[in-house]
Amino acid sequence: MTFLFNSDARRGAIFADTFARELPDVPFTMDAATVDPDTVRYLISWTVPDNLARYSNLEILFSIGAGVDQFHLDAVPANVKVVRMIEDGIVRMMQEYVTLAVLALHRNLPGYLTQQRAGEWADIAQLQAGSRRIGVLGLGQLGQAVLDRLKPFGFPRAGWSRSPRRIEGVTCHHGELGLDEMLAVSDVLICLLPLTEETRGFLDAELFAKLPKGAALVHTGRGPQLDHEALVAALDSGHLSAAMIDVTDPEPLPLGHPFWSHPKVILTPHVASVTQPASAALAVIENIRRYRVGLDPIGLVDRSRGY
Ligand code: NDP
Ligand code: OXD
Repeated sequence: MTFLFNSDARRGAIFADTFARELPDVPFTMDAATVDPDTVRYLISWTVPDNLARYSNLEILFSIGAGVDQFHLDAVPANVKVVRMIEDGIVRMMQEYVTLAVLALHRNLPGYLTQQRAGEWADIAQLQAGSRRIGVLGLGQLGQAVLDRLKPFGFPRAGWSRSPRRIEGVTCHHGELGLDEMLAVSDVLICLLPLTEETRGFLDAELFAKLPKGAALVHTGRGPQLDHEALVAALDSGHLSAAMIDVTDPEPLPLGHPFWSHPKVILTPHVASVTQPASAALAVIENIRRYRVGLDPIGLVDRSRGY
């Protein structure tokens, strides 16, 4: 009953130490070349290895990230449980990133950076936080966590999910009608949706047109959710004021792409949140313990929904 770690050696070393300490009866290896494939019961990876079929006794495929779209779930045998990463490090970093983005957009940072480069010393009209409405697409572990972290600033907060949710202090919307209601009052729209067939291309011209004039976008979901050309057009027309983008399609973004130099875009290279190995190893071990006593692992993916 072996646990196979298929990712970078730096994080692997921390996983190895944690397994040796916390779960010594489960042999741990990072060596896919020498492991007996029949012994592999648990595998953690960012993508599905091409030779997945050789692990014929695999029971759980863990994603080393919060998302599982990179797995292409059809490639994973139906009897294998797929579990996404839920761990404190990812949550904390996403809270930091989204707070940074919302405050930068709220305080007109893209505009001031443009003025600095032009040697221009001038005020840009400033809304107070109580008048800057925040809307979050996706009310899962990350959407809820960022809404919670934004609370002390006093922004009116709303969120949208597939199924109805109740979150104290947050106006919760769901379904198609709920989406339009939220978009109409989102001065800063944050995307934290998983990538599925329903959310591919979701951030498009039609959606941008439903936002108030001057709204801004924070995109930390997945690259293929965003229509890049539609965003540039909405920024150039002045309908949207600015965007902070962490995920693109493709990644890395090719040199010469308009996002690299657009004055209204702040671009980061998919770093909003990064799995932290010490807390991630503990989360995976807890899930193996749960699984062994017949409980569902935390973060078990519902294949029919794709997340
Ligand atoms: P969760 O699965 O916990 O939450 C997903 C949320 O999205 C749920 O509220 C769900 O609704 C909602 N949702 C999904 N599909 C739809 C739909 N079609 N219509 C309406 N709502 C929908 O995911 P996490 O919060 O853990 O993560 C979200 C995503 O963030 C990840 O999938 C990943 O792509 C991205 N991510 C990006 C990182 C980065 O560094 N940029 C790092 C980590 C994650 P319901 O509540 O009804 O199920
Ligand atoms: C993740 C990511 O899904 O890094 O964890 O995007």
